[in-house]
Amino acid sequence: MSNIDIEKYFKPDLKKARKRSQNAIEELHFKLSDAYQKIGVNSSYMIHTYGCQGNEADTETMAGILELMGFSKATSEAESDVIILNTCAIRENAENRIWGELGRLKSYKKQNPNLILGLAGCMAQEENVVERILKKYQYVDLVFGTHNIYKLPQYIETAFYSKERVIEVYSQEGEIVENLPKIRNHQHKAWVNIMFGCDEFCTYCIVPYTRGKERSRAKEEIINEVKELVVDGYKEITLLGQNVNAYGKDFKDEHYTFGDLLRDLNDLGMERIRFTTSHPHDLDQKTMDAMRDCEHVMPYFHLPVQSGSNAVLKKMNRHYTKESYLEILNRLKTTVPGISVTTDIIVGFPGETDADFKETLDLVDQAHFEGAFTFVFSKREGTPAATFEDDTPEEVKKERLYILNDRINDGYLIGSQRFLNQTVKVLVDGVSKHDEHVLAGYSEHNKLVNFKGDPSLIGQIVNVKITVAKTWFLLGELL
Ligand code: 5AD
Ligand code: SF4
Repeated sequence: MSNIDIEKYFKPDLKKARKRSQNAIEELHFKLSDAYQKIGVNSSYMIHTYGCQGNEADTETMAGILELMGFSKATSEAESDVIILNTCAIRENAENRIWGELGRLKSYKKQNPNLILGLAGCMAQEENVVERILKKYQYVDLVFGTHNIYKLPQYIETAFYSKERVIEVYSQEGEIVENLPKIRNHQHKAWVNIMFGCDEFCTYCIVPYTRGKERSRAKEEIINEVKELVVDGYKEITLLGQNVNAYGKDFKDEHYTFGDLLRDLNDLGMERIRFTTSHPHDLDQKTMDAMRDCEHVMPYFHLPVQSGSNAVLKKMNRHYTKESYLEILNRLKTTVPGISVTTDIIVGFPGETDADFKETLDLVDQAHFEGAFTFVFSKREGTPAATFEDDTPEEVKKERLYILNDRINDGYLIGSQRFLNQTVKVLVDGVSKHDEHVLAGYSEHNKLVNFKGDPSLIGQIVNVKITVAKTWFLLGELL
């Protein structure tokens, strides 16, 4: 594939990606034109997905588009005609993994020169990534970002027939595209996007640059999607957004927020409704009340805190303090008794002192989290925190992570033990990874439960009496 005039490409621009205007959000409707409908017949594709549930949902859309074009899902990389890496940019180690993958896939390009190798997702939105692809990864044929998945048919056509390299990344606020086809990855659980983008601009985070401005899907579109999922026999949905608590805040002529949406979705016949992810600063009482009142909204909340130090929270631009976080958390626990809460925490943020870290441990002690994703700060080029002075040695940061993880694991175990001898409802996902005679699924409080049962129960909600409580999972007997 030729690469003569690199100026013809649409390359990302992080400065542009930072802009937020008052402009109305454009809503587009996807339709596959006839010209693209047969391009993929007798050809196959494979998509590798990295990172968050937003990417998993995007992969389902890419697969939906490719299958509308006639492609079928490949069973191996060697037989694929199109391989797309749907990438994550949240931390450096996520990116390093993908550079390694690109290196590994080079050999397939040698075996099959017609193979189209594509890079999509958040990494494609980064300036330095696209520069590196242009200079050092000539064999990558296709680069497109998070804003233009709906244009995949024309990109594939160009790469397939004119053998031109396609590099098209938009650094824009973003639109909403409806009517996108999807090949869902699970048979009884589904992702439902309710909003896109993020306007929070936490100083460490690349997401507002890679995913654009906060924009909410029309409630009618969401309700219709969920109604169809009910008809198709889905048992659980997870509503997706970078900050679902901001849902509806961008509506110009309507006052309709996340709590209203939960109430409306609760009446549609979907057994289980979950959502991710939340920002404490936008979590309101209306949402908590809706959780209390809506039997299908699960008693589980992922509420990222990031740090327990007020100085660090301020430098992170999180808009709350340790005290106000604990106040919101207590309100949530009082409104929805028995709710299980998990969190995200970053250690080693630039300038974090031992005293700051102790504040985080103290917050963990007071919050009684039942789990957490914990991370060492990773410098993301283009974000404000990448320029903050950072003199904490890596070993100290790692040590803090170990100490924190121990503390978090205590909470996990206590969270498991409270279900001992209780009967919980489990949506059966499949057979256990470790034993084919054992089924695995999640309880309403999002606890992994293993028990003996027949695989015909997969996709059903069953009662299980818990007999053993471990840190990471529960064991029980089917009732
Ligand atoms: N370094 C480390 N962790 C990060 N996260 C986001 N950006 C970074 C970064 N630069 C974490 C936050 C967020 C989760 C999805 O990833 O904890 O909640
Ligand atoms: Fe990143 Fe903060 Fe937005 Fe979450 S809320 S995606 S951490 S900027």
